[in-house]
Amino acid sequence: MGFLQRLFFTVIAFSSITILAQSDDGIEAEIHSLLSKMTIEEKIGQTSLRGTSSRVDGSLSDELKSAVREGRIGAFLNVMNTDYVKELQKIAVEESPNKIPLLFGRDVIHGFKTIFPIPLGIAATWNKDVAKSGARISALEASSVGIRWTFAPMLDISRDARWGRIAESPGEDPFLASVLAKAYIEGFQGEDLKSSTSMAASIKHFIGYGAAIGGRDYNTVIIHNALLHNVYLPPFKTAIDAGALTLMTAFNEINGIPATGNKFLLKDLLRDELGFNGFIVSDWASVTEMIAHGYARDYEHAAELSIKSGMDMEMSTHAYENSIQKLMDKNLISEKELDFLVANILRVKLKMGLFEKPSFPSNEQNVFYKTEYLEAAKNAAIESFVLLKNEDVLPLSSNQTFAVIGPLADAPHEQLGTWTFDGDKEKTITPVDAFQNSSIDFMFAQGLTYSRDKSTELFEEAISAAENSDVILFFGGEESILSGEAHSRANIDLPGAQEELISKLAETGKPIVLVIMAGRPISIMNIIDKVDAVLMAWHPGTMGGPALFDVLAGISEPGGRLPVTWPKDGAQSPIYYNHKNTGRPADQFNYTNIDDIPIGAWQSSIGNRSHYLDLGYKPHFPFGYGLTYTDFEYSDISISSKSIQVNESVEISAKVKNIGSRKGREVVQLYVQDVVASITRPVKELKGFEIITLNPGEEKTIKFTINPKDLSFVTFNDERVLEPGKFNVWIGPNSSSGINSSFELK
Ligand code: BGC
Repeated sequence: MGFLQRLFFTVIAFSSITILAQSDDGIEAEIHSLLSKMTIEEKIGQTSLRGTSSRVDGSLSDELKSAVREGRIGAFLNVMNTDYVKELQKIAVEESPNKIPLLFGRDVIHGFKTIFPIPLGIAATWNKDVAKSGARISALEASSVGIRWTFAPMLDISRDARWGRIAESPGEDPFLASVLAKAYIEGFQGEDLKSSTSMAASIKHFIGYGAAIGGRDYNTVIIHNALLHNVYLPPFKTAIDAGALTLMTAFNEINGIPATGNKFLLKDLLRDELGFNGFIVSDWASVTEMIAHGYARDYEHAAELSIKSGMDMEMSTHAYENSIQKLMDKNLISEKELDFLVANILRVKLKMGLFEKPSFPSNEQNVFYKTEYLEAAKNAAIESFVLLKNEDVLPLSSNQTFAVIGPLADAPHEQLGTWTFDGDKEKTITPVDAFQNSSIDFMFAQGLTYSRDKSTELFEEAISAAENSDVILFFGGEESILSGEAHSRANIDLPGAQEELISKLAETGKPIVLVIMAGRPISIMNIIDKVDAVLMAWHPGTMGGPALFDVLAGISEPGGRLPVTWPKDGAQSPIYYNHKNTGRPADQFNYTNIDDIPIGAWQSSIGNRSHYLDLGYKPHFPFGYGLTYTDFEYSDISISSKSIQVNESVEISAKVKNIGSRKGREVVQLYVQDVVASITRPVKELKGFEIITLNPGEEKTIKFTINPKDLSFVTFNDERVLEPGKFNVWIGPNSSSGINSSFELK
């Protein structure tokens, strides 16, 4: 491929467009005027985010009130007492020197009161409307208590099911994550930033947090620039283009430099290349943790490194508060550098109209758990459920009797999932509640009291319930605390004695439906053959029970598709569909099973490829996978042109037909492979998808348009290039099947 044939997009061209779109002369003048009046102490105050842990109500100390009165605090997190919110805000806007309003933040991740499925579950819906409406409802509920800033959405691409925070993530794919990113921003921030129900989003964690070595939380991250741009950056870029107001740094180091003191990330990439002009907040103590990283000598040095990187607001620790003046006295930080941080913070407060209308808790009643919110949460859960296996057992038939068993069958707290602080478990409807509210004949025998329970004491009762029923419904998985921050697992199978109980239940000969509630893919290799159906329900939130009831009973169908590759075992991680081919790719003809190796075999690699002898080369289920209660047939792929120029687009279509006997929802997926390039490209990349619903016998032609820009990628030299050559294309139901064609880019 000749140099001249390549088409270059300079990154600067992209970013300058963004900056222009976001600039506002009035706001900049206002910032300038405020900065000219503010004392250094007040400026430092704006960079300080004070908070308590997510649990503590605390009491409002005089020290805190004085700090606000003197302008020494810019924002709070986790103040959940509405009287305190009112009092603090009142002091800020009436008594502080420049009457700068406070911003109150909280982790409103997948719901405030009405809890939606965990973000990985939302990603499984592949539905931007679900993501957007969930975020909007979260904002409506949270803003009513004065919370106008959420530490969401998390946009960390996650390729490792062992990592606990995969639960909070949009999954492994940059395209799907970008679609969701935009929807989240639109939902949280709403149409009018100045509305009292708009909640500033904080896209997090910038960047690469999901690539922690071995899936161990907080661990080292190494990502080269091409990978950063092609895989980890896209959802952040999309969210910034959609107007995300704030961004949180990551705990991890990336290529040797902690993200919170990383000038390349926070200035060169974020500000200059992506044109971000909101404010950056550190993660909890991530400024001072640069000491443990071995990057900063002490608090003062940590503050200096973060400030020099353009990191605007420090969460929870006090390195900025205690060091900025000293750093200025030593001429290590200039007032101009401090002003840059403060301007970014003021810009967000001004954009949100907080000066004219500071956020106060509203006195509105009945804001939480509205009927329509609960409906939306139920619908989100239904669309998130992924059917992994079904051997003629689902949907259930109403004249059967059921044994409802398992540690997650009636666990209101657990089904809410990770990182929920405000949802009331009393409002949660579990599967057992939902069965009780129906006329279905069922027996409930838990068998295990919680997911890690190893006791077999209650087995007998469960087995007897199974023997006296037609079908066993086993609700297993993980408690909510087994995923999320700092909850990585090396072994991702069903914890406790769940596998043992399932094996015993299988001996009854009754069909078993395994419903998994968990924050990550669970290794089910040991038990999949013992059950007849597997439904992945993630942690489904407040309305998980009714949603599961409807899906099991066939009132609704499971709508989800996997947003992550499902490994056979944690040891296969990281595993992702958009991997590279390698020089020795494995396939069915080039794979050796450990048991097929002759004893005393000659030392040789001949015939062997990139795989594990004991786990093979395939995941258990591919990215994009999910069964339905009907069947779809793909045919007649057609391409508008076999050869296009760089200024042309290409249309690819295929027919999708419902060949089953029920109405069904299908997520039609488009994948592309750049066959030969100047740096190797993934074996497949998702470039489009469409959700359709078809009646039995109905057929639809689904058309995708690929613009050459969609085929561009960033090289090691930081150039975005579009290279001529052959592109393979697939349209199909998941990343490992589909019908294919190809075209040439001239
Ligand atoms: C998490 C963030 C979160 C913050 C505030 C940190 O431990 O990493 O995602 O927003 O706490 O609660």
